[in-house]
Amino acid sequence: MARIKFEGVGKHYPNGFVALENLNLDIADKEFLVLLGPSGCGKSTTLNMIAGLEDVTEGKLFFDNEVMNTVPPHRRDVAMVFQSYALYPNKTVYENIAFGLRMRKHPADEIDRRVRDAARKLEIEALLQRRPDQLSGGQRQRVALGRAMVRQPAVFLMDEPLSNLDATLRISMRAEIKQLHHAMQTTFVYVTHDQAEALTLADRIVVMRNGVVQQIGKPDDIYERPCNMFVAAFLGNPPINFLEGALSLEAGHLSFKRGQTTLRLPTPVAERLASQVERAVVLGIRAEDVSAHSGALDSACVQGRILAVLPVGSDKFLEIEVEGTPMFFRFGKEGQHREGDHVTVKLNLNRLHMFNKEDSQSLLW
Ligand SMILES: Nc1ncnc2c1ncn2[C@@H]1O[C@H](COP(=O)(O)OP(=O)(O)O)[C@@H](O)[C@H]1O
Ligand SMILES: [Mg+2]
Repeated sequence: MARIKFEGVGKHYPNGFVALENLNLDIADKEFLVLLGPSGCGKSTTLNMIAGLEDVTEGKLFFDNEVMNTVPPHRRDVAMVFQSYALYPNKTVYENIAFGLRMRKHPADEIDRRVRDAARKLEIEALLQRRPDQLSGGQRQRVALGRAMVRQPAVFLMDEPLSNLDATLRISMRAEIKQLHHAMQTTFVYVTHDQAEALTLADRIVVMRNGVVQQIGKPDDIYERPCNMFVAAFLGNPPINFLEGALSLEAGHLSFKRGQTTLRLPTPVAERLASQVERAVVLGIRAEDVSAHSGALDSACVQGRILAVLPVGSDKFLEIEVEGTPMFFRFGKEGQHREGDHVTVKLNLNRLHMFNKEDSQSLLW
């Protein structure tokens, strides 16, 4: 049982730099929580506080009902996997995995059982007598996972564990980490700057920026209902399209206007934005929320010139200049599209996002 709770937690350095500001977060027992954000936003700081490797300078950190602020790392029942693997170069794989258990004076037969059990789950049984320099990056990462697994910790902490692996391996290891979580039935806190990894793995994601939490929620919530332009842009690949404009009433209908483009907002959106007439806004629309359009121009269409055609195997992306703004849209493989062509794109306006231009906060949720 391990529930982790942050109450107004901060990390203020003596030089005045604030690496983490007023974090309030309740991580449930057995939850898979992902801390997501760009480099330097305070993810590792937060994780290291859970491990006890870094002081909490403001607020309180709890495990269940116990305040942990001054509890030393070895009394916390946590195991951590680092990006750098941190294996002992002169020990075999077997001894690397066994090391923590030997330090804690577990009986030899129990150590052997746990090491072999972890090695089987991670499919590294054949490698147990090798040294780290005789392993690939992916194999080393499995050893690092094995070393944390055998400890059977109440909390499993991972700091960018896949970022040193090549793209294909990264994707297959994601699935394994998810299975590991199911098998271990413990709380996982996982740090990454990779939004796709976060969306795949997390029960909940915490999006951070400059030491400040931007949004906490389930992957779908964060993707579908980003609270500001930073979160909207950080999740999704290619990034969400933004188009600056203004809200105005056109023949009694609330519309988004920019240059020659007028988009009539669907009723639920219009109702939510009714008090925002004349406001300067930024419309957000994801690449997938469109369809090719050949019929008459209507109030959900934008027009533009194709800047680039980018096939990605299963489908293709078009970069289109709309009202002077380059935007990415996803299309099926079919259809003849060439650079320089003028095209009409129908937006799925039920899926649009609308932000206040002034402070970049969402006007919808
Ligand atoms: N001793 C220190 N003094 C001042 N700032 C520090 C110190 N150690 C780390 N930082 C700063 O804290 C911020 C957060 O770092 P970190 O948690 O490692 O970010 P992330 O893991 O999200 O990349 C960074 O901007 C880093 O430069
Ligand atoms: Mg880090």
